[in-house]
Amino acid sequence: MSLLNPEPLPLHVLLLGATGFIGRHVHAALQTRGVQVLRVRRPRGGQGDSAGAWKPMLLHTMREPAAWQAHLQDIDLVINCVGILRQRWGESYEDVHHRMPAALARACALAGVRLIHTSALGLYEGAKSRFLSSKLRGEQAIQASGADHCIVRPSLIDGLGGFGASWLRMLASWPVHFVPRGATGRIAALQAADLGDAFAVLAHMPSFSSQREANLGGDRLFAYRHYLQVLRGVEHTESPVKPAVQVLLPDWVSRAGAHLCDLFRFSPFSYGHWILLQRDNMPMPNALPQLLGRAPLPVTHRRTGLREDFRLS
Ligand SMILES: NC(=O)c1ccc[n+]([C@@H]2O[C@H](COP(=O)([O-])OP(=O)(O)OC[C@H]3O[C@@H](n4cnc5c(N)ncnc54)[C@H](OP(=O)(O)O)[C@@H]3O)[C@@H](O)[C@H]2O)c1
Repeated sequence: MSLLNPEPLPLHVLLLGATGFIGRHVHAALQTRGVQVLRVRRPRGGQGDSAGAWKPMLLHTMREPAAWQAHLQDIDLVINCVGILRQRWGESYEDVHHRMPAALARACALAGVRLIHTSALGLYEGAKSRFLSSKLRGEQAIQASGADHCIVRPSLIDGLGGFGASWLRMLASWPVHFVPRGATGRIAALQAADLGDAFAVLAHMPSFSSQREANLGGDRLFAYRHYLQVLRGVEHTESPVKPAVQVLLPDWVSRAGAHLCDLFRFSPFSYGHWILLQRDNMPMPNALPQLLGRAPLPVTHRRTGLREDFRLS
């Protein structure tokens, strides 16, 4: 039995955020291994809300452990892949990234259910971004909950169906790149399929007592501008591909641009991401090769149907 393809266990998983980029890859990886997955998505109204293996839930309203109790019956493991890039009416960062996972973790502790929570690299005390600070508080609440938990922190993810991933692929394909001068932090981009496999391996661990966190990344480090050039090489089939001309934007332009993107809810570029780009965003140590039992796929892994993918997200 290898780590990557363990014998299917009679495992019942509740998957939160199952319609999302990460959630879909986690579901695919679990399904391949014969795991029974109950997928949670936002209620859509009308017929088919609870059809098949879908469970409709408005997660930002589930801020007390009691709200979770009934949903954890006959469940061995909850995987939380929920997150919001921007706040919506009645749906704050605090509720989605902190209060909801805190209540879930407390309920998991009481019910003896294991929990895998998706967070992000690069969170730190004092970050002047509500997006980042709510995520950090969510992690801290889970760590204090008494639940048998594992916090997964992926670096930037590339792959089919990702909002950010598709934008980066599109921007990279242009002959001119506008790059924030201050985006000097290094990233260890990884493939979404590898991330899904890593979740599946974690799911089969009987306990997370020796794996309370898993910081995950690919095996190459890139500064943002370098990453764009590499993606450009993948997107263009002519060989050798001409590198894009890169125009460096002063920090004040990048900061103002990030605030404007937040204001108009435009693109995945946000103030929180501007902060992240200025710092290293790499896993130390990187748990991905150990979980997969092999080297991570390179981000130069060729994809098909990029344009279709962009329309999907
Ligand atoms: N993508 C990356 O490169 C990356 C890297 C590191 C960490 N992460 C973190 O990983 C998490 C997931 O990322 P992702 O890229 O998969 O995001 P995503 O594609 O936007 O997926 C988020 C999921 O959460 C669900 N959701 C959000 N608020 C909800 C609510 N109130 N009730 C019910 N469902 C709700 C979404 O459903 P709806 O679509 O219906 O809202 C969606 O299924 C986030 O915390 C993100 O910060 C992502």
